[in-house]
Amino acid sequence: MGTVCPSPLAVLVLLFICLEASVASSSGVPLYKNPSATVEARVQDLLQRMTLEEKVGQMMQIERSVANPSIIQKNFVGSIISGGGSVPKDRASPTDWMDMVDGFQKAALSTRLGIPLMYGIDAVHGHNNVYGATIFPHNIGLGCTRDPDLARRIGEATALEVRGTGIQYVFAPCIAVCRSPSWGRCYESYSEDPDLVRKMTQIIVGLQGKPSKAGVPFVAGQHNVAATAKHYVGDGGTYHGIDENNTLSSFKSLVNIHMVGYFDAIAKGVSTIMASYSSWNGKKMHGNRFLISHVLKKQLGFKGFVISDWQGIDRMLSPPNLNYTYSVETGVNAGLDMIMIPFDYVTFHDDMIALVKSGYISTQRVNDAVRRILRVKFSMGLFEHPFADRSLTGMVGAQEHRELAREAVRKSLVLLKNGKSKNDPILPLSKHASKILVAGSHANDIGRQCGGWTITWQGQAGNITPGTTVLDAIKSTVHSSTQVVYEESPDTSFAKGKGFDYAIVVVGEEPYAEMLGDNTNLTIPDGGIRTIQNVCSSVKCVVVLISGRPLIVEPYLPLMNAFVAAWLPGTEGKGITDVLFGDYQFEGKLSRTWFKSASQLPMTVGDKYYDPLFPFGFGLTAMAVEGNGATVFGSSLPLLSIFIYLVGQILL
Ligand code: GLC
Repeated sequence: MGTVCPSPLAVLVLLFICLEASVASSSGVPLYKNPSATVEARVQDLLQRMTLEEKVGQMMQIERSVANPSIIQKNFVGSIISGGGSVPKDRASPTDWMDMVDGFQKAALSTRLGIPLMYGIDAVHGHNNVYGATIFPHNIGLGCTRDPDLARRIGEATALEVRGTGIQYVFAPCIAVCRSPSWGRCYESYSEDPDLVRKMTQIIVGLQGKPSKAGVPFVAGQHNVAATAKHYVGDGGTYHGIDENNTLSSFKSLVNIHMVGYFDAIAKGVSTIMASYSSWNGKKMHGNRFLISHVLKKQLGFKGFVISDWQGIDRMLSPPNLNYTYSVETGVNAGLDMIMIPFDYVTFHDDMIALVKSGYISTQRVNDAVRRILRVKFSMGLFEHPFADRSLTGMVGAQEHRELAREAVRKSLVLLKNGKSKNDPILPLSKHASKILVAGSHANDIGRQCGGWTITWQGQAGNITPGTTVLDAIKSTVHSSTQVVYEESPDTSFAKGKGFDYAIVVVGEEPYAEMLGDNTNLTIPDGGIRTIQNVCSSVKCVVVLISGRPLIVEPYLPLMNAFVAAWLPGTEGKGITDVLFGDYQFEGKLSRTWFKSASQLPMTVGDKYYDPLFPFGFGLTAMAVEGNGATVFGSSLPLLSIFIYLVGQILL
């Protein structure tokens, strides 16, 4: 092989870096501590000063519950994580969070080179681990808005709430393209359609700020956070939606369906990308060198860092942890840069040192990983601003964020039926009814309204965080003269002959996350069906479904006067009554196909055989009639539509 001569440009760059380094060192301050030096020069300067121990430390992300100052100092820990529900204390305040994060940071800064750590958390629909934070609709609902700028604004608000707790890094957005509603994480996916998912990656611009240059990891400042596009790649395409399972597909369809969102995320400067637990054609993504190092890093030019998923290394083999050393070697050599260990950092550390010293993992691979991590840390200003901005504590749950979440709820709801027969729409509901019934397990429950990934990993029913339930919202919307009767599980006689003008029935799924949400039945949980039957058989009713996905509803649809998909709306229940009572028009359009029965699945838009109950993109906008569900008026001109409706009533 001939000698390789560096290009003139490479020589110039190298000379420039050396010149910068010599200037800096003459002032006594190491170049990497000079904020006016270029990111690449600072990275290079710092990297060459680091020992193997310090480099391996940067590649480690450990859980806050095992972290303490001495562990951080001794192991040069580069990142700490709050797993779902891992909080400083129950109902911790923003200041409690900041004290914890800053405490860890002080330890990191006290190490020889003083490299600040990144604190990461799942802020996947607002700052959802934090009591009192604004909880936005989960992604399945946001996909129904088809509003990328709304996504951006939600990203901005979320970043402020995350910074309001001193945290600088979020494991969001999930840009999975969920192809089967059986998947327990389908609600974390904006859509079954890759193009709609691509549009919604605009949330990255909200979280990180508007990139100055396409394709370069970017965080605008201290009111923004480093984002994560996840889970690379094919997480939403597994066999029958089984979580962490196998995605069988050609490379072409893997790219066209599951990878295109990453093109946009990288162009928008996403700082990190998280590997998927799933496999592609039988090969674990966490060990897929071709897709991570060749396609993502080399061909797509991703310059940030790739982080493993939680114990993603352990789960590379079955049973998990079968051969941890082999998995570390395979994962790191595949291109994983930071490892979400998150507990047994001693084993990871010892394996890494041994694997590098024995040559099974090259110094070049370690340097590439650390270079990428440092690039993100320098580009987000972490060296200059390592500590929390204490002026931001009021951002958590701020009223303007709750108003934004209310807007997102309004825009995410999809009206699927309005009227049992022609020209008898029940929506919008009257605010001046004399007596109404509110019923159902999800009518007065914030926890159920928010779904998984809320306060705890799985989420849970109950009054888990401040917010407005549907019942609260109804009571504050109707006229003071309206009698509101609430009954969670009315029996068959409860509604009979009681003089209710109408009933609002709110039912749905119990909260779940990840594999615990995998479900092939896809039916409305029993209690919900009974409530629909018991109420709607004797009162005009609007059914509002709170769920992380479409469910089998066709058998019960004839009982309903109106049917609304509300998805997992979060804390701002008034967004639901805004449209139920006509203060705003329904504008949501299905981000997923609504099937008739589970036996039709998988069935997604574009399939040759496509026979849904409601097709992808369907949604009524104004007063409409049953049957084909076509809207009487394409545009939402409420006054015109109400005038024509009234004229119609008079003439008929
Ligand atoms: C979880 C999820 C991932 C999340 C991570 C940290 O298992 O797969 O989406 O970011 O662990 O909580």
